[in-house]
Amino acid sequence: MSKQVNIDWNTLAFNYIKTDYRYISRWKDGQWDEGQLVEDNKLNISEASTALHYGQQCFEGLKAYRTKDGSIQLFRPDENAKRMQRSCQRILMPEVPVEKFVDACIQVVNANEAYVPPYGTGATLYLRPFMIGVGDNVGVKPAPEYLFVVFCVPVGPYFKGGMTPVNFTISEYDRAAPYGTGAAKVGGNYAGSLYPHQLAVKKGFADCIYLDPMTHTKIEEVGAANFFGITKDDRFVTPQSPSILPSITKYSLMHIAKDYLGMVVEERDVLVDKLDEFKEAGACGTAAVITPIGGIEYKGNLHVFHSETEVGPVTKKLYNTLYGIQFGDVDAPE
Ligand code: COI
Repeated sequence: MSKQVNIDWNTLAFNYIKTDYRYISRWKDGQWDEGQLVEDNKLNISEASTALHYGQQCFEGLKAYRTKDGSIQLFRPDENAKRMQRSCQRILMPEVPVEKFVDACIQVVNANEAYVPPYGTGATLYLRPFMIGVGDNVGVKPAPEYLFVVFCVPVGPYFKGGMTPVNFTISEYDRAAPYGTGAAKVGGNYAGSLYPHQLAVKKGFADCIYLDPMTHTKIEEVGAANFFGITKDDRFVTPQSPSILPSITKYSLMHIAKDYLGMVVEERDVLVDKLDEFKEAGACGTAAVITPIGGIEYKGNLHVFHSETEVGPVTKKLYNTLYGIQFGDVDAPE
């Protein structure tokens, strides 16, 4: 590594730090340009950009990991590329080809290599690909031009404490409607979560959990992450719904639970008044990795799973396997 950066890797949180290069590509007249790395972290866009008014934008999140031998690996970037294509289809934006997406991520990691945290710190380089509708337009219609950008930032845990349990409260607000945009990674879903999140934090919780908007009986998402529970008979259960974001980490954990830990895996309804069926629970996502859920507050009662302070043994095994694969210490599945 040539350049040295002055960062305390062990105390990194999930905050923005300006790194040296970002990738930017413009879609105009029906095609993407070649794309390039630039140093400037400011975008110069029209005041009439659809991204600013009508939320025509989507984003992704993935990480680069420093392995024991000093090399760097990305975790399933093609899955992020495909999910971004599905988000683009939902809000009428042009798709970025998978190879272009992955190549942009690799260029950004290589150009910012000094910011990839050392092996052993647990910190990673978080990549944030996003697309925005730009150009002059004022009617509610797709933008005439688009920007696809990938920037990166070295990060530590998303929830303070990382692999220590935190408590959540059930929100009265909905995150996304069935047949709405919940399954697309679009900014509007996250704008709508800011107020419920603030209410949860004011009540002393790490974040809130959203129920299904139709019946308010089933768990959907844990803030900006997915939910999983471990039943008393050791099944890995995670909600199935058209309005939750298909988390790549969640599908990886389902795979790990089944093929590494020999567990039965179920994607199905998780009823908020049947939390008793679980001995452990967690939130999972690229940013959150696995955050153990100590307890869930619902209608004034705190339901505690394994413990409010200790991580359950199955959650620990899931975490160690996922972490091991991501940092190159455990062989990835076929
Ligand atoms: C991620 O895990 O990448 C997320 O989407 C959470 C993010 C909004 C911070």
